[in-house]
Formats: sequence, C-alpha cells, structure tokens
Amino acid sequence: MAVLHPSTSFDQVMATLPDGDQAILVRTGETVHAFRNRCPHLGINLDWGDGRCLKEPGILVCSMHGALFAADSGRCLAGPCAGDALEPVPIRVVDGRIETA
Ligand code: FES
Repeated sequence: MAVLHPSTSFDQVMATLPDGDQAILVRTGETVHAFRNRCPHLGINLDWGDGRCLKEPGILVCSMHGALFAADSGRCLAGPCAGDALEPVPIRVVDGRIETA
C-alpha cells in the first residue's frame, strides 16, 4: 500500500506510483478513478508535462493527438485509439486519502 494523494479534493492530479510510473487521479462526482498516464495510441503521457489532462468534467484528453477518454472508465471515446482504453490503477479511498489497493 502507498498513499498516492493525501486528499480527494481535486478535479484531476498526477501521482507517482510505487513503480515510478505516473497515475492520473480524476474525480467524477464523489468517485476517484486512477489510470496510468500512458496514452494507448503511442504510449506517451497524456499531458504536456504540466500534469493536466482534464478537458472538461468527465473527459480526459491526450495532448498529442487529442484522443478523448471517459474519466470514469478510461475508454477512448474519440481519436486515433478509439475503442481502446487507459490502463486502470487499483486504488481505494481511506479516510479521504487515496491509496494503492
Ligand atoms: S499519442 Fe495520445 S492520441 Fe496520439
């Protein structure tokens, strides 16, 4: 178990996983979802290095070619990897903290 973020009070942030990869933590309503920060199109980060990839509530975007992903499932809704998905990261929320499951 590792604490990825001390709080659930954000819309979208990046966190470092125990293996060194980055995870996208994103909220939809009261639920937090986590995905590896790796676009299924080319395997690169979704963000430009600023840690942000939330296009609008519920939608993540890849900065390279604009693929759109559902923030609750990670499924690619449009773009060059449509039908593919971000890799989910198992997490749990304990006392408002986000931990690896
Ligand atoms: S690398 Fe993400 S859409 Fe192409």
